Amino acid sequence: MPDDFERMWADLAPIGRSASSGGYHRSPFTAPERELDAWFVEQADARGLRVERDEIGNVVAWWDVGSGPGVLTGSHLDSVLDGGAYDGPLGVVSALAAVDALRERGFAPARPIGVATFVEEEGSRFGIACLGSRLATGAMTWEAARQLRDRDGVPFGDVVAGASSSLLADVGTFVELHVEQGRDLVDRGAAVGVGSEIWPHGRYRLDFAGEANHAGTTRMEDRVDPMLSYAMSALAANKQARLAGQRATFGRVEVTPNGTNAVPSRVTAWLDARCATEDALAELVGAIERQAIDRAGRDGTTLSLTAESVSGPVVFDPRLAASVAADHAGGDWPIIPTAAGHDAGILSAAGIPTAMLFVRNPTGVSHSPAEHAEMADCLAGVSALAETLERLSR
Ligand code: HGY
Ligand code: MN
Ligand code: MN
Repeated sequence: MPDDFERMWADLAPIGRSASSGGYHRSPFTAPERELDAWFVEQADARGLRVERDEIGNVVAWWDVGSGPGVLTGSHLDSVLDGGAYDGPLGVVSALAAVDALRERGFAPARPIGVATFVEEEGSRFGIACLGSRLATGAMTWEAARQLRDRDGVPFGDVVAGASSSLLADVGTFVELHVEQGRDLVDRGAAVGVGSEIWPHGRYRLDFAGEANHAGTTRMEDRVDPMLSYAMSALAANKQARLAGQRATFGRVEVTPNGTNAVPSRVTAWLDARCATEDALAELVGAIERQAIDRAGRDGTTLSLTAESVSGPVVFDPRLAASVAADHAGGDWPIIPTAAGHDAGILSAAGIPTAMLFVRNPTGVSHSPAEHAEMADCLAGVSALAETLERLSR
């Protein structure tokens, strides 16, 4: 089994990898991500798994044994811009290797076992987190999704045929394995953990409008500068999140016209806010919006804030989490929260009993080329997933 995993991992390593940063660029429906999708179907075919694809581009490879609602595992293959190697693909490769391991030990599941890949989990192209699984579960409608546009103005409706999906029609349980995006497991000295919950989180677009003008001839007191309003709002957001013990990030800014010698006319900035509770999220975003509007008022600019992608709190089925975490040779696996969103959160919110397995990330870093997991821990994850799938499909 280790060679299965290591061979598959080596297959993926060069796909979509930047030579300069070592980061991955695997946006949905671009060449590298389609290469991964083709690779996945090839791996499924090589294992005699039945490949099902919906209109959205989600895929499930079924090991058609047993009967009744299936046990689904898998994750996503798309990445953030300049992302790490593990976020997403680790769950897909581990799922294939776990099926290999179950077969090698002659395990005969009483239920079908499926390996899924969901498209656009990162929302890095069309702006909505977990777009593929939201559409597959009906959490988002085709009408709402088809007009989403990427940064080149390409509508989602031009990239996929539609949003009809029956992939999840007969799924009894979903288990997603994912690299941990933090330091909980490394601080505990544990290779594998189980997810307890996902923090509520959202993405909000802030449009600051001002007046373009000459960088030299315009006196400071005569300016209506949206860059100033944005900069002060970013500072305020950072302070507000620190005070509240929550998370606020501005990672993406678009300046119009983005010239060196001109006061800009507009600045658009995206806030990623994450909090332990829904009330804290509403409070944090409300405070940031109030302070940004107040600052814009003083600068003579205007601000409009639009919620683009909001994910409510997810508490994974506690009994399922406890049963997955219990009775292991090395002791129970820790059950830990995360502030990272996952397709598992969408399926759980859609009423499918769901669990998450996390694999130790010694750097604790993610959404970065520095994201890492040791091979020994990846193999421990595969064994943990195989054991979990065996328990759930007995
Ligand atoms: O953004 C997230 O939380 C996840 O990595 N998609
Ligand atoms: Mn992920
Ligand atoms: Mn991610």
